Amino acid sequence: MNAHHADLAAIGVAARLLEAGELVAFPTETVYGLGADAENPTAIAKIYAAKSRPSNHPVIVHIASHAEAARWAADLPEQAHRLIAAFWPGPLTLIVKRAASISAAVSGGQDTIGLRCPSHPVAQALMHAFKNGKGGIAAPSANKFGHVSPTTAQHVRDEFGADGCGPVRCVLEGGQSTVGIESTIVDLSRMATLGPVLLRPGSISVDAIEAIIGLRPMAPDQGAPRVSGSLQSHYAPRSPVALVASADCATTLRALLERGRSVAVISTGAAQPETSGRQAAAVVSLPAEPSGYAHGLYAALRQLDAIGADLILVEAPPRDAAWSGVWDRLQRAAHDSTGTLQSLLA
Ligand code: TXA
Ligand code: MG
Repeated sequence: MNAHHADLAAIGVAARLLEAGELVAFPTETVYGLGADAENPTAIAKIYAAKSRPSNHPVIVHIASHAEAARWAADLPEQAHRLIAAFWPGPLTLIVKRAASISAAVSGGQDTIGLRCPSHPVAQALMHAFKNGKGGIAAPSANKFGHVSPTTAQHVRDEFGADGCGPVRCVLEGGQSTVGIESTIVDLSRMATLGPVLLRPGSISVDAIEAIIGLRPMAPDQGAPRVSGSLQSHYAPRSPVALVASADCATTLRALLERGRSVAVISTGAAQPETSGRQAAAVVSLPAEPSGYAHGLYAALRQLDAIGADLILVEAPPRDAAWSGVWDRLQRAAHDSTGTLQSLLA
């Protein structure tokens, strides 16, 4: 752990709060989570209330190790063991059949459960301190329902208020999340009939999963369990977002500025185009490779959202598979803004 990480005393306090049924936000390598004791339905209800999240959307249970997985699952297929061995601790969530002893409250009433073992050292220390490493921490991303996920402790406070003032009793510090977008979710609950299904793309790719289990996860079907992150408008900032092909970015920006629009820009490296004296309200440049881009994406969306520009113009990244997690989040961020660019140009 480093200077930006909560110390063991703070982590111990957080573990006791969780054991007492309170909500605690904590860092993971993907995004910050809003945690509650996964075996306490009253505590889980507090998560749904704090997030204004519909109660039929299941939450992921975070556990300390591979050894703990069996207690939560009715059945762990052989593919689950192999994926866990390859990717845990890390940004992979597995959906498996839920053990009968585990409350349906945690999985939104479904007969499955999402399991993940995060690698962030503060998350690891918290899971080991909580119930002596034998518990499960139910944790969605620590944002209001439908909003951009937090990648710093300050983002969490921006969502829910200062520690102890709102529903969140404490926010553990852990620096900026390294991965920056939510975990890859693979559904293994219907192996016999469907095989593995990719419910949410993330930094662990379909290719990497196929390399371990010899089966390629397919895209979600109609019968797939509900994933709130798969609602089309999830991860959206308040300002409209438009994704524009890289080759058209400079022309589009110039046209918007000529019409007096205020525009915030997310680009991949290139300097702001010459706009005959007019300036974009702000420009954030993200690395032109997918892991660096994902790392900075949510912080960039939050920073630019705060400006209140007419539009956040995003230079579309390449279309190849390595960018699929980033593309997924960008398309959802832009979903509710369809038509905004055209009307601003009119
Ligand atoms: O990276 C992450 O996964 C972060 C960190 C905090 O671990 N968590 C996260 O949680 O993104 P959340 O709730 O924002 O998104 C988890 C997604 C939801 O869309 C939920 O519907 C889905 O996982 N999920 C959880 N349990 C499920 C289940 N039993 N069946 C289907 N989907 C499930
Ligand atoms: Mg979320």
